[in-house]
Amino acid sequence: MCGIIGYVGPKNVIPVLLDGLKRLEYRGYDSAGIAFLHQGELQISRSVGKIKELENTLWGRDLGGDIGIGHTRWATHGRPSEENAHPHVDCAGEIVLVHNGIIENYVPLKEKLTGEGHRFTSDTDTEVIVHLIEKYLEGDLEEAVRRALREVSGAYAIAAMWKGDPDRIVGAKCSSPLVVGFGEGEFLVASDIPALIGHTRNVLFLEDHEIAVISREGVEVTTLEGDPVHRTVEQIPWSPILVEKGGYKHFMLKEIYEQPRAIRDTILGRYSLEAGEIYLDGMEAVEELLPFVQRLVLVACGTSWHATLVAKFLLESLCRVPVEVDYSSEFRYRDPILNPETLVLAISQSGETLDTLVALREAKTHGCRVVSIVNVVGSSIARESDGVIYTYAGPEIGVASTKAFTAQLTALYLFALYLGRRKGCLDTARVQELLAALLRLPQLAEETLQCDDVVERLSHLFYQRSDFLFLGRGINYPIALEGALKLKEISYIHAEGYPAGEMKHGPIALIDAQMPVVVLAPQDRTHAKILANIQEVKARGGVVIAMGTQGDTDLFSRVDHHVAIPAINPHLAPILLVIPLQLLAYHIAVHKGCDVDQPRNLAKSVTVE
Ligand code: AGP
Repeated sequence: MCGIIGYVGPKNVIPVLLDGLKRLEYRGYDSAGIAFLHQGELQISRSVGKIKELENTLWGRDLGGDIGIGHTRWATHGRPSEENAHPHVDCAGEIVLVHNGIIENYVPLKEKLTGEGHRFTSDTDTEVIVHLIEKYLEGDLEEAVRRALREVSGAYAIAAMWKGDPDRIVGAKCSSPLVVGFGEGEFLVASDIPALIGHTRNVLFLEDHEIAVISREGVEVTTLEGDPVHRTVEQIPWSPILVEKGGYKHFMLKEIYEQPRAIRDTILGRYSLEAGEIYLDGMEAVEELLPFVQRLVLVACGTSWHATLVAKFLLESLCRVPVEVDYSSEFRYRDPILNPETLVLAISQSGETLDTLVALREAKTHGCRVVSIVNVVGSSIARESDGVIYTYAGPEIGVASTKAFTAQLTALYLFALYLGRRKGCLDTARVQELLAALLRLPQLAEETLQCDDVVERLSHLFYQRSDFLFLGRGINYPIALEGALKLKEISYIHAEGYPAGEMKHGPIALIDAQMPVVVLAPQDRTHAKILANIQEVKARGGVVIAMGTQGDTDLFSRVDHHVAIPAINPHLAPILLVIPLQLLAYHIAVHKGCDVDQPRNLAKSVTVE
């Protein structure tokens, strides 16, 4: 997820672009760059790191201009570097372009364009677009963009400029967002409203396969086929503060609602339903080991460690390979028994957790290959791994991990299908069946988010309690742990997750009317046993909040409160079940007046042991 902006108008374009990029920095901050026309010359400045670094490169230079584009990057293809930073240029250095999204067919396009003589200077997917525009440019930038976009597949929001047409910026969109701003004699395009709010509240949201041309004269919107589009301009009611969070009160709530997109983006371009195949780039160094791997060891911390517990169920069930999971901080002191036939997976949102980085290094001293699943391209754990599977959740600002977690589970599910194919445990038909279930997940996650109001009302009943117990069985037991961790870390209420079947061996002594018991009870093969556990709690005067499958009236009749989630393949149930638990923790913390996005004592990335 990146941020793009374009401006044309009477103001000095440089501060407009820099301020807009700062307001989009939550979308990515690996590198940044701007391009603008100054006295007829195209000026480009790019830098690795946050917008501040870019400002430093421009400081003190006598520059100005009234038209320009800018970009702040969240790397997907190509590590964070100046040559991979946007804007990207054509061979002649006269066309510049910024892009947010993923071009799925960039490899064949790059090969074809290279064969036609185009010279590439980056590892990004984006660069193929600007060379396609160059290929088709015959005096009309808009037409060249139109022809170029007909050749790409995947997600894009772009803004392009050409030195030969110094008064216009061409924007276009497919899957990634692009908003047009209508000011007084000034016009903008941007990835999100925060970048526009300082200049105008009058906006138009482009729809897929539409092109917007902005100039001092105004805005023209057409379809990719060239048909004119007439749509009303809306007025944004948000305050600038709300705008930073896209209208949500906290980044954590925004990120909970971004989960369907994060899941979708993590799946995008990595499967063929027809062939029953999974495509994971970045696995070249471990490919030859996969069919023979005898054991998997998974290491992580916190929420990411909960993802490894879910992965144990997935991988053992689908790939029939023994899986051990360990806290990263425990792993290296265990004197682990490892050998080259053991594949180690390191899971980390930040890719900088020192405990996990050190565990990865320990595994490598034993000759193990390491595959990491991380959300930050080019992070330390990614760089030191033999293989990397990126999650495309975009930057996660809230300290409590939400969208990165469900993206990790999505990536682990993809990896299980990938490994199962290579170990010969999953045939084409079985992969097609499991893949079809995965492709329904983003929509089912959207539907699950509709439980927000029910959960908010529940949080109002229980936010003053001092203890919670979360219970789950099988693949959902790790989600009980995750629900407890979410509640602990943002509301400071003591909570623990426990295997439901284990409760009678001790924790049942805790049951009373004051401690709410949250039970994960989807309709799967442990359902009858969970119902018995619920009876055990109720028989001792406990209060039960059940997360169950829509229509499960038998369950709902036995508990005090319930939240219903859509029916889903049991392997994927954890991804839906965690959503109401995230919302429960969030709303309780808000009711308690806690600092949801930056809870006390915590940091987003723990880079100490
Ligand atoms: C999760 O909500 C916490 N913020 C924390 O447990 C986190 O998951 C843990 O520190 C691991 O971080 P990582 O995924 O970046 O390695």
